[in-house]
Amino acid sequence: MAVELQKRSVPLLDFQAQYASIQADILTAIHRVVDSQRFILGEEVEKLEQELAAYTQSAYAVGCGSGSDALLLALMACDVGPGDKVLTAPFTFFASAGTVARLGAIPVFADIDPVTFNLDPQRTREALDRDPKIKAVMPIHLFGGAADMDPILEAARDRDCFVIEDAAQAIGAEYKGRRVGAIGTMGCFSFYPTKNLGGYGEGGLVTTNHEALARRVASLRVHGSPRRYYHDEVGLNSRLDALQAAVLRVKFPHLDGWTAARERNAALYRQALGDGSLPILLPEAAPYQTRHVWNQFSIRVEKRDELQAWLRERGIGTEIYYPLCLHQQACFRSLGYQPGDFPVSEKAAASVLALPVSPELSQPDLLYVCDAIRSFFKG
Ligand SMILES: Cc1ncc(COP(=O)(O)O)c(C=O)c1O
Repeated sequence: MAVELQKRSVPLLDFQAQYASIQADILTAIHRVVDSQRFILGEEVEKLEQELAAYTQSAYAVGCGSGSDALLLALMACDVGPGDKVLTAPFTFFASAGTVARLGAIPVFADIDPVTFNLDPQRTREALDRDPKIKAVMPIHLFGGAADMDPILEAARDRDCFVIEDAAQAIGAEYKGRRVGAIGTMGCFSFYPTKNLGGYGEGGLVTTNHEALARRVASLRVHGSPRRYYHDEVGLNSRLDALQAAVLRVKFPHLDGWTAARERNAALYRQALGDGSLPILLPEAAPYQTRHVWNQFSIRVEKRDELQAWLRERGIGTEIYYPLCLHQQACFRSLGYQPGDFPVSEKAAASVLALPVSPELSQPDLLYVCDAIRSFFKG
């Protein structure tokens, strides 16, 4: 007999609780921008760019309209266009392959590693060896865990390919002591509200150690004009706005503390659920040194949809990131992929379930989630 738990409400993310903890500073920052009447780019954005360049260990950081635009701008700065191919993982958010296709280039995929959910370096090398048209590799640091960058960089270097890191979910994550976003040719970050450093609207950032690429991205984000009304090339309008920058600058000093709380929550889940008695797989440590920043804590479970419904009935918010791989999306049907082409990714898509892990999650609420999971398997 399942023990009935006292029902609570445990959202996947608790935006209100975070806002309550920083409300006065947020409102002061917003007033500062409104009083200045300078809403687009400007000083707030420049200061944020400087702060995040230092934080990501990058020489340059360029703010833009979204994480998707960051990927688009990075690809454009690498001259990716029609006829080119870009290698990425099939198990991720749509933006990686979507931005490639948006430029008239072709997304190609290599399967993921079953432990880290990130591009498998061996398969990456095999794909690069097979296809000389691949111009760039786009590893994703999915859920906040770093991809295995050294062998990916080595394979890309052997073929003279750019490496564009999709670090949208992974600000502050580290790979062998190096911060993500500064390891490849360029890094791309998102400030979508659900990210570890989330704004109050859309926003993104491109990081790089290459001055020429940083200048090009800065020009591309304002319609390819390094000087106002003089256009060297056709870019897009992807300017970060000052209100977002001001909000992000209030949140930024809290980021490491919030990440520490996420790490604590991940460790508590391991303690509470990791005794091997449940038919679930918890996220495992990567076989290389990393600092995981736990944007998501995704378990794998066969009866995933049933467990999600069970938790929903008990007031617990969860999410499926991502239910359908990119090679199986309707818009990419013409690429000719078949079900079964990337079995590790497809298995992940069928079994992942993200549990609440945000910094605001209290220990009693986390233990309630764990009890609810145990009761599902006992019931
Ligand atoms: C892995 C990944 N890449 C790219 C993006 C795109 O970022 P945005 O939503 O800011 O455009 C996201 C955000 O959802 C993401 O999770």
